[in-house]
Amino acid sequence: MHALVAGSASPSLAKRLAKSAQAELLRPIVQRFPDGEIYVRLQADLEGKEVAVVQSLSPPQNDHLMELLLLLDLVRDLKAKKILAIVPYLAYARQDRRFQEGEALSVKSVADLLSRRIHKLLTVDAHSQLALSYFSCEIEEVRALPYLGKKMLDLNLRDPLFLAPDEGSAKRVEEAAREAGADFDFLEKERISPTEVRIKPRELKTSGRDVVIMDDIISTGGTVLEACKCIRGARRIWVCCVHGLFVGDSVEKLRKAGVERIVSSDSVETSYSQISLAPLISARL
Ligand code: R5P
Repeated sequence: MHALVAGSASPSLAKRLAKSAQAELLRPIVQRFPDGEIYVRLQADLEGKEVAVVQSLSPPQNDHLMELLLLLDLVRDLKAKKILAIVPYLAYARQDRRFQEGEALSVKSVADLLSRRIHKLLTVDAHSQLALSYFSCEIEEVRALPYLGKKMLDLNLRDPLFLAPDEGSAKRVEEAAREAGADFDFLEKERISPTEVRIKPRELKTSGRDVVIMDDIISTGGTVLEACKCIRGARRIWVCCVHGLFVGDSVEKLRKAGVERIVSSDSVETSYSQISLAPLISARL
């Protein structure tokens, strides 16, 4: 990889990746016109080079997506030989099928927009393999949950139980627990609406232990909040996720539910991004 272009959603991750890949770090100018339209400018000699654009599709997803499209076209116009899009959080992936008649297949639209502009997509813990199946370019998916599990060990957990809040994340959390030498359990979730979930109550062995609820995405926090209701007498409740979107007052709600610590990766850059994905991603560059 010769150069990495840092999108405005992923400045720190791009910097770390450029350093470990020994690639040139390019920071485009990204501005707004008064009416809200996005303006990007990049002056660089990219002719014949392999270039990666790093941009997570975190909220505001639509703005970050539009910026990414402009950057990819610009990199092509500057005659890059190969274009890689590093998109740690792939937005719209949860709408990977028509759950109800007449719904748009959102992730397919995103896949079409990206596939025709890039040679390869590198993403992290995509919501589903179905979501990735709509891409027509080369794809590489990095699995981060096991890595996060191992990193959680550095945080001095006592008698840890890694808990998956639903069956969808169970396999990955089990792997994370194995990496960390922790116990594992999972819950069963039913989604009632985009903002409402219900978790089947279950007896868990949580008394006196450090319980880490792990998930790929935390958005409204609803899933984790429901999982908290099944935890009794834990020493500490921690939450760990790959993609921490933390929309609205989700963090406040998690705190009120007894969550002491929130740890996420820098897939989405927030004040909770304590574990960088750079070593994982740069190993694939
Ligand atoms: C769902 O399949 C995902 O793994 C997450 O559990 C979900 O996206 C979390 O969303 P929220 O925080 O809004 O419950």
